[in-house]
Amino acid sequence: MNQFATYPSLKNEAVVVTGGASGIGASIVEHFAAQGARVGFVDLDDKAGSELAAKTGARFMACDLRDIGALRKALAAFEKDQGPPLALVNNAARDDRHAIEDVTPEYWDERMATNLRHQFFAAQAVIPTMRKRKRGAIINVGSISWRLALGGMPAYVTAKSAVEGLTRGLARDLGPDGIRVNCLVPGWIMTERQIKLWLTPEGEAELMTKQCLKEKLYPPDVARMVLWLAADDSRMVTAQSFIVDGGWA
Ligand SMILES: NC(=O)c1ccc[n+]([C@@H]2O[C@H](COP(=O)([O-])OP(=O)(O)OC[C@H]3O[C@@H](n4cnc5c(N)ncnc54)[C@H](O)[C@@H]3O)[C@@H](O)[C@H]2O)c1
Repeated sequence: MNQFATYPSLKNEAVVVTGGASGIGASIVEHFAAQGARVGFVDLDDKAGSELAAKTGARFMACDLRDIGALRKALAAFEKDQGPPLALVNNAARDDRHAIEDVTPEYWDERMATNLRHQFFAAQAVIPTMRKRKRGAIINVGSISWRLALGGMPAYVTAKSAVEGLTRGLARDLGPDGIRVNCLVPGWIMTERQIKLWLTPEGEAELMTKQCLKEKLYPPDVARMVLWLAADDSRMVTAQSFIVDGGWA
């Protein structure tokens, strides 16, 4: 039977998660809450967000992250209420499929706004108080998709590859202030959305031939890595990408 860690450095600390209402983000919210952290999360899904807040005691802030003004307001309100966040988890994204010939300049920009831009501006919003404390962890969620050269979503994979560049650039700028920035790269994680939209018996069989570990991954497998990256246990770890994919890539 598996046994998992408790991190004293996360207890009573404020943490913020984007896209926390469902999927991997919801599991990250639950895992931080179980560590005794004070969790705030933003999402545009009102219903799922309110239900998760009621279940975990986390604070839900309804917000569309494509609206940077709204994101800034939500993060400022959380900080005023809960104090400076120890950790920011930039998790929100949408892996909508799109054919090359259908992509307009507007759609391209929308994909960047959904999958990349908010990660920078959420970091920008929490950096000033992290700097004052000389302490903080920013965890950007990337994707294995571009490393595997997956097709059918060129704007998404472009944004997700940039998440790793953003991570390394921020880590260099923020290291002198004691702020660590890392990227977590999920493989194929069985969220409700993935199971509903993309999982087929053939796809699962193929995945099992490709992963070293012959089990499907679920959101808690990612959430536990996020906890470690936020905790003091990873205190000298920054500017890195961590792949959680059962050995697929
Ligand atoms: N599930 C996988 O297999 C997988 C693989 C690689 C990478 N990822 C990455 O993991 C992260 C989480 O993915 P997931 O599978 O849990 O997705 P999900 O769709 O299950 O959950 C994403 C959450 O983000 C929210 N969200 C989306 N756009 C938003 C916006 N504009 N404003 C506010 N909230 C918004 C959604 O409402 C949802 O609650 C993403 O960054 C994704 O790219 C997932």
